[in-house]
Amino acid sequence: MPKSTSAPRTYRVKSFGCQMNAYDGERMAELLAEQGLTAAPDGDNADLVVLNTCHIRERAVDKVYSDIGRIVKDWQGAEGTAPLIAVAGCVAQAEGEEIMARAPSVRMVVGPQAYHRLPEMLARAQQGERVTDTDMPVIPKFDTLPARKRSGPTAFLTVQEGCDKFCTYCVVPYTRGAEVSRPFAPLLEEARRLIATGAREITLLGQNVNAWEHEDDKGRPIGLDGLIRALAALPDLARIRYTTSHPADMTDALIAAHAEEPKLMPFLHLPVQSGSDPILAAMNRSHTTESYLHLLDKVRAARPDIALSGDFIVGFPGESEADFAATLALIDAVGYAQAFSFKYSPRPGTPAATMPGQIAPEVMDERLQRLQAAVNRHQYAFNLASQGRRCEVLVERHGKLPGQWLGKSPWLQSVHFFGDVAIGDLVTVDLTEAGANSLKGELAG
Ligand code: SAH
Ligand code: SF4
Ligand code: F3S
Repeated sequence: MPKSTSAPRTYRVKSFGCQMNAYDGERMAELLAEQGLTAAPDGDNADLVVLNTCHIRERAVDKVYSDIGRIVKDWQGAEGTAPLIAVAGCVAQAEGEEIMARAPSVRMVVGPQAYHRLPEMLARAQQGERVTDTDMPVIPKFDTLPARKRSGPTAFLTVQEGCDKFCTYCVVPYTRGAEVSRPFAPLLEEARRLIATGAREITLLGQNVNAWEHEDDKGRPIGLDGLIRALAALPDLARIRYTTSHPADMTDALIAAHAEEPKLMPFLHLPVQSGSDPILAAMNRSHTTESYLHLLDKVRAARPDIALSGDFIVGFPGESEADFAATLALIDAVGYAQAFSFKYSPRPGTPAATMPGQIAPEVMDERLQRLQAAVNRHQYAFNLASQGRRCEVLVERHGKLPGQWLGKSPWLQSVHFFGDVAIGDLVTVDLTEAGANSLKGELAG
């Protein structure tokens, strides 16, 4: 097997899956930069490639193996050398041994809770060893990672990790481990660093972010609402968002923060998965359709203009046409501003994978199409209802056309407009024309 014996000089981290994986990818990149590696320019081979993988659905896993093949094939280094390939993320955690057996070109396998040990692993890999680290160490990675360096106008900040909910279809409790909240002081410190490097908006991340709980600087127990209020006191931070929430952890105090804290954006991603109570029970979702709708009533009472978002799974084992119709009815009742929908994917080791009544792929396809049509209809209706509104937009990047900018409304809609602005500006924009996925706007004044 070819070996790259010289030390890698360039790296690339490629992240798949959720926003937390994107955050982990940034932190691994910062860690490698601290080791003296530089980011490989786009299009170039990197000496070290970290594939930061997602295990949530079958197709996400397949991508890993096809990517490994492509990296090896595209390698243009000297004869007899090979790129150093590391597999990180949730596939690494769930299938580390299998990857090592199936893909000889992989030199390192590192789980989501162990990536702070990448530098030591890298040193061993350079000696020719194939190294696996999928521990969930007692001293969490956050205590040893270097301080944040990279940031743009928007930044992610992981505040909570892991899941104790054990929905019967889901691998996350196995790949990310038990629910852990990061302590208050380091979170404030990380937020300050992100703000100092240009962040105007911070999105707090957690697999169940609203389960975050810790003590504040005076030792008083606080929940996510308290953390949000503390962050809102940081002067140069303009916007706070959080994701993903679980209905079971949606406290009255957090709902009240939506009414009272102007920096907390009017957007809530609150996955429900299905609109059928028997399916919700089989999923082990600890909420019913009614309790979910009741929760949304409370949220809307606190913040009437809130934009709602959700996740849906179609074709969960046993899902009948009537169950699916109930999901469509729920979507119509809520009127989501956006939503993510997925075909059920049986994941090895999860209870649902061996449940009776697995649904045929054609049926799933057809249901997914109907569901997405309903979601698109509501998304467009939400955008149309925003037409004519004036709002603040955070400028995130250049648009496709010369002189055009792209930013986000408070309701997380993409807004295109022209004008004399800069990335990171918060500007007032009149929303003039709604499209299916974005709006056009005009700078006010
Ligand atoms: N912790 C978050 C996110 C979990 S993963 C939450 O509970 O909402 C993101 C979404 O992927 C889930 O909300 C669910 O809709 C979907 N998902 C998870 N496992 C899945 C599976 N086995 N098949 C299809 N979709 C799945
Ligand atoms: Fe998975 Fe359910 Fe936990 Fe979300 S709450 S991560 S869907 S087990
Ligand atoms: Fe995927 Fe792991 Fe996130 S399975 S969705 S990368 S927590």
